[in-house]
Amino acid sequence: MALPESFIIEIKERNDITDVASSYVNLKKRGRNMVGLCPFHGEKTPSFNIYTENGSFYCFGCGVGGDVITFIMKIENLDYIDAVRFLAQRCGLNMPEDGYDDSMSALRKRIYEANREAARFFYKTLYSPNGKVGLDYFHGRALSDRTIRHFGLGYADANSYSLCDHLRSLGFKNNEIVAANLAFQRDNGNIFDRFRDRVMFPIIDLRGNVIAFGGRIMTDQKPKYLNTSDTPVFKKSANLFSLNNAKNSGEKALILCEGYMDVIAVNQAGFQNAVATLGTALTPEQALLMKRYADEVIICYDSDEAGQKATARAIDLLRNAGLLIKVITIPDGKDPDEFLRNRGAEGHDAFKNVIERSGNDLEYRLEKLRRKYNLNQTEDKVAFLTEAVRILASIDSAIEQDVYISKLSKETEVSPDSIKQQMSKYQKRKRYSQRKSDFRNLQQNLSGRNDKINPDRYKKPRAAVAEESLLAYMIKHPDKLSLIESQLSSEKFQTEFNRKLYIYFSDRIKNGYDPLSSVSGDFTGDETARIFRIVNSEFSRIATESTLRENINVINDEYSKLKTADMATASDEDIASQLRRLRESHQ
Ligand code: UTP
Ligand code: MN
Repeated sequence: MALPESFIIEIKERNDITDVASSYVNLKKRGRNMVGLCPFHGEKTPSFNIYTENGSFYCFGCGVGGDVITFIMKIENLDYIDAVRFLAQRCGLNMPEDGYDDSMSALRKRIYEANREAARFFYKTLYSPNGKVGLDYFHGRALSDRTIRHFGLGYADANSYSLCDHLRSLGFKNNEIVAANLAFQRDNGNIFDRFRDRVMFPIIDLRGNVIAFGGRIMTDQKPKYLNTSDTPVFKKSANLFSLNNAKNSGEKALILCEGYMDVIAVNQAGFQNAVATLGTALTPEQALLMKRYADEVIICYDSDEAGQKATARAIDLLRNAGLLIKVITIPDGKDPDEFLRNRGAEGHDAFKNVIERSGNDLEYRLEKLRRKYNLNQTEDKVAFLTEAVRILASIDSAIEQDVYISKLSKETEVSPDSIKQQMSKYQKRKRYSQRKSDFRNLQQNLSGRNDKINPDRYKKPRAAVAEESLLAYMIKHPDKLSLIESQLSSEKFQTEFNRKLYIYFSDRIKNGYDPLSSVSGDFTGDETARIFRIVNSEFSRIATESTLRENINVINDEYSKLKTADMATASDEDIASQLRRLRESHQ
């Protein structure tokens, strides 16, 4: 993993973290730092910080942190070497010829190539005599040849070796084909095609790479859709089908559909901004990904029960990611694909109409409630209002709240004041339980019992804080290392992780390296985040030589306390032998 130190330093010098991050995050200046809404978790008030002074970032909301390389690894979903390569390209540097382990990166490259060749092969097969079943199927579902070409759709024939043979003839190795999840391997080592007798939907990322496939069977057999499992280039939960098209649509809204065919049909009807998840329910990662390319999401799920459940879930996730939400209810037919197919040439206008008539997520939720109750009955009215008030309580804007309150009041003939009263009662109760659970979380975090990086920390809080403060000082003032070392040895550290850091950083400083430049390559993502939390913490900023002395004292003090405690639980014999050793060492 060792890229030349000088190269990493140059990469960092030429890729200012503020410049790099600001193409993904809206940043504002605050004091010496920059802040913005974190791209790695949903939030409404900014806790994502960039520290220009040492070229790092840290989010106090989700605890993600690191340097510019970590940032690119996370946001572009790349491994270390590929993130460095990404930044090298960004600033026009060539990667060094060798000196680093490139095997993972090389495998990823082969997987991209195998996928691209597979997509070509499936497309070609679709238009060959062998693929007539597939082509008839697509035509039967009203897809034009233009649409098929645009999405690069294809057909995997029924023979178990077609694709494997083809890829091998192009020089791909068995292990590469299996790693791409295009084939399975038998116990005897032979491989055979994963996708057989299915129409194929390639999934393309924002850089234009084919990263995975969905394949639909044309009969009633199960599974209806078979998708590529996660591979070194594909993470289901972090990608969306057709985001590559939607990104270039110029629209501020995305249309979120349930399936491949819906997205394609919606596209064919003239709306390029449709996307879908890849065989799973929507994830927070996907919601944040959408937030990077849009302000608003129009949810367009099936009108069946499963679709409505998924809608409720999506509303919560998208709201959390800070997106505006509209919900489309397809008037007839199960999904957008069927709706459009029934309309034929009128599809575009009809769908546009549906979008324009769609309400925001509140209206959708209130409408669902309305259907549940009979508002002519007093009991139902009360139950309806109780639930409706809860929905309204979740709105941030007071004006918006007022609008809905007067609507509800007219509808139910209950005075706006009583509705407001009911709402403030509910909000009070909610705030109380929120505070209670915040407090519980805070307590748990402070106690640090679930600290996986430095599990000793909660048992030795005084020592740990002093250790971290000392580490932060040492990283900031490498010239003070010999002073520190003359008064403190690594064995005095009481927490394992901080001791590891002490050894690591003193080693780097002694060898004349910048302490932080290789952290993102030498530690795991979680460890890197912890290191940058330590480096950018409050006590790092206020550290002086006198706090340094205090910290050294605390660490030494805690260490000798530990020794005394050991003596207290030791047997008489142990104590005698300890004393003997002490006396000997003082002679
Ligand atoms: P649907 O069953 O609603 O299918 O699944 P669909 O999109 O309407 O497809 P057609 O019109 O019958 O061809 C919605 C989505 O869920 C995923 C797929 O991504 C599909 O597009 N899915 C469904 C699977 O991954 N596997 C399955 O077996 C079924
Ligand atoms: Mn369908």
